[in-house]
Amino acid sequence: MSTASEMVMMKNQGYSYQAALAASQKVNWRIEDIIGGDKRLDFSKPFMPESLARVELLDFLSADEQRTLNQIRGNAYLCIFGVVEEFILPFLMDHARPQLRGDDYRVRALLQFAGEEAKHIHLFKRFREQFDNGFGTNCAVIGPPEAIGRAVLAHDPLAVALTILQIEWMTQRHYLDGVKDDQELDPLFKSLLKHHWMEEAQHARLDVFVVEALAEGRSRQEIEKAVEEYVEIGAFIDDGLKAQTQFDLEAFVRATGRTLTESERERFVAVQTQANRWTYLGSGMTHPNFQATLESLLPEARERVKQIAPLFC
Ligand SMILES: [Fe+2]
Ligand SMILES: [Fe+2]
Repeated sequence: MSTASEMVMMKNQGYSYQAALAASQKVNWRIEDIIGGDKRLDFSKPFMPESLARVELLDFLSADEQRTLNQIRGNAYLCIFGVVEEFILPFLMDHARPQLRGDDYRVRALLQFAGEEAKHIHLFKRFREQFDNGFGTNCAVIGPPEAIGRAVLAHDPLAVALTILQIEWMTQRHYLDGVKDDQELDPLFKSLLKHHWMEEAQHARLDVFVVEALAEGRSRQEIEKAVEEYVEIGAFIDDGLKAQTQFDLEAFVRATGRTLTESERERFVAVQTQANRWTYLGSGMTHPNFQATLESLLPEARERVKQIAPLFC
């Protein structure tokens, strides 16, 4: 193992590229084991855990209408993860490329990480195809992924790495907090969240290495600037989530034929905007492991994120 790897290992609580590679090789699942053939979405069940969907707060909707909205949110989940994974993949390849020689475990762990994200993109697409065939109403989603990816990748790589780290921890929370104990969910969608969680666990640890490598040798001001850019990326994602909430409202009205009063629409948008914020921003921002990485970069960085986090919870 190289000296650089050893140094990184000390900071990441004994974790190493070698351990990450071994763990992902053990987990490594195939798309065919999760979806296809008789493995189909069951549209009589909700797809998303209520802690993320927050449809029950909309008590003016019937149980059937709440389930329909839950499924629309499930479709958006597939699309939004499709979008974020599409900027994670090129980012990782760019990060791995300048050091293809040297630490063999590093190269293999990062390429494995990238390969898994490519597989996740594929998995989310397969789920979307099934959703489109079974749901019966067209649901608009934000995009295109390339344009969103370009806008995110235009930022400082350290800001992008922090955004990605937040996404990895958020995925851990989605499964652990909401899915593991919820027996009512569609088993196929639950399996998607579970299998994603299994591979993202290694990504989260590897992304700590990426953050540390990109922060190395930077002055306090340079780190502060990168953290501000991370906040800017968050605001950009937040704008996307507001747009997605409007799309979800329109899809809901089309799918159910329900007419909402002005105050019901307002309540719908307020609750669902906040639910989206928690799902895609707050659940990662407030994750103790994400905060620990910020703290190790710069205590003020953790404070900065702590300050704005309640807006996304
Ligand atoms: Fe992923
Ligand atoms: Fe990931």
